[in-house]
Amino acid sequence: MAYIELLIEENTSESGNMQLDARGGCFDALAVARLLRCDAVYYDANGFERAASEDGPYEVCGELTMSDTVQSLVQAGGAARETVAESDLGFLWDFWYPALRSTEVTDKRLATAMLLEVPLVLGRASDGRAFAMRDSCPHRGIPLSYGRFDGQAVECSYHGWRFEACTGRCIEIPSLTSQDKLKVERIFAGHYPCEERDGYFWVFMNSQGTRLPETILPAPQLAVFSEKYRITHLTCDLPSHVDHGIIGLMDPAHGPFVHQSWYWRSRHSIHEKEKKFEPIPYGFRMSPHTPSSNSAPYRMLQKYTGEPVTTTIDFVLPNIRTEEIRSGKLWFSSRATVTPVRRGLCRIDFVAAWNLLLPVWIFRSFAKKFLRQDQETMILQAEGLEHNPRLMLIDDADRPAKWYFGLKTGLLESRRTGEAMVHPMIGPVTLHWRS
Ligand code: FES
Ligand SMILES: [Fe+2]
Repeated sequence: MAYIELLIEENTSESGNMQLDARGGCFDALAVARLLRCDAVYYDANGFERAASEDGPYEVCGELTMSDTVQSLVQAGGAARETVAESDLGFLWDFWYPALRSTEVTDKRLATAMLLEVPLVLGRASDGRAFAMRDSCPHRGIPLSYGRFDGQAVECSYHGWRFEACTGRCIEIPSLTSQDKLKVERIFAGHYPCEERDGYFWVFMNSQGTRLPETILPAPQLAVFSEKYRITHLTCDLPSHVDHGIIGLMDPAHGPFVHQSWYWRSRHSIHEKEKKFEPIPYGFRMSPHTPSSNSAPYRMLQKYTGEPVTTTIDFVLPNIRTEEIRSGKLWFSSRATVTPVRRGLCRIDFVAAWNLLLPVWIFRSFAKKFLRQDQETMILQAEGLEHNPRLMLIDDADRPAKWYFGLKTGLLESRRTGEAMVHPMIGPVTLHWRS
């Protein structure tokens, strides 16, 4: 019993928080400031970047290294077990991430997912509330997903401990007798805030186990602009660290090479482009603009409505790219998230809604092809990344990728110091590239 009490104590002690802070400590604000000034940024394939100045590609002008707390935390157990994954895999904690599609959870079935290397068991209580628990019994670690769920509580398959699904609180330990004084209600299975939105189970990946930050923003929601619309979801796994997935998503220069097709564009349609960007909280916006004239779908839209087409593209931490296209009363809105599953695997979840006369099946067949092209490219890239090459980011085409790393570091630094977050962009910027 003493052993159990000790674990409970650890779960609520401050030590977990300090470990958490340690993870932010490996990023250095000065290094990032230098990084953003460099014309080329070199970084290691494992997702932790290094910057090099133009005068010598091998001169490292800022080095961001991995924290070495992982192993010691693995040994520590208890609260440390809760915080091991966050200790430094380049993941951003304390954000909402989509764990799985709502359609994967039916009746009293328990579903499993992994986010940021944390195994989760998810379900819907009889009152309709979505829940997410750590898929590990706090007694002896067997996945709770092997247990039974009656609509209220999850019962572990090993010794039958029962946990309230929506709070993680233990409500029964069958082996206890009337002489035992163990306070069952003080034991918690790991659990995370969970909400259903846009057809996904969203989980707030809280770095502190059961203790939540003071304020949690609501889970993201796709913007829609009329009552009736069509909506569709697509998903695709990428065999890489989330950072590679994200910078791949915001990379304009691969379009003519990876996404060649007669209806979209060919490599011969490459031309110089000028795009305006502005900083927004936690991210950046490609200011509303008239989309690329070499893309057939946009030309068709403009012809149909007779009104100008404008597109706004935002990226915000931790992983969200949204795009809104509007022309007169017609609109198209999409969101792509790149979610870290584990260090070498991330997943794109793409949801799109529109009120155009565009059948879902037609859109899906194009979007699938598009995603597949990205996926195939990243499978090939993963082959190269396995050998830890040094890589580079160039201006201007890779500037958004530099901002992404700058935003990440700025956020971690502000969490570490408690100071306001330093944004990598000082104001609006115009970028030029050919694509
Ligand atoms: S391992 Fe779950 S009740 Fe013992
Ligand atoms: Fe792409």
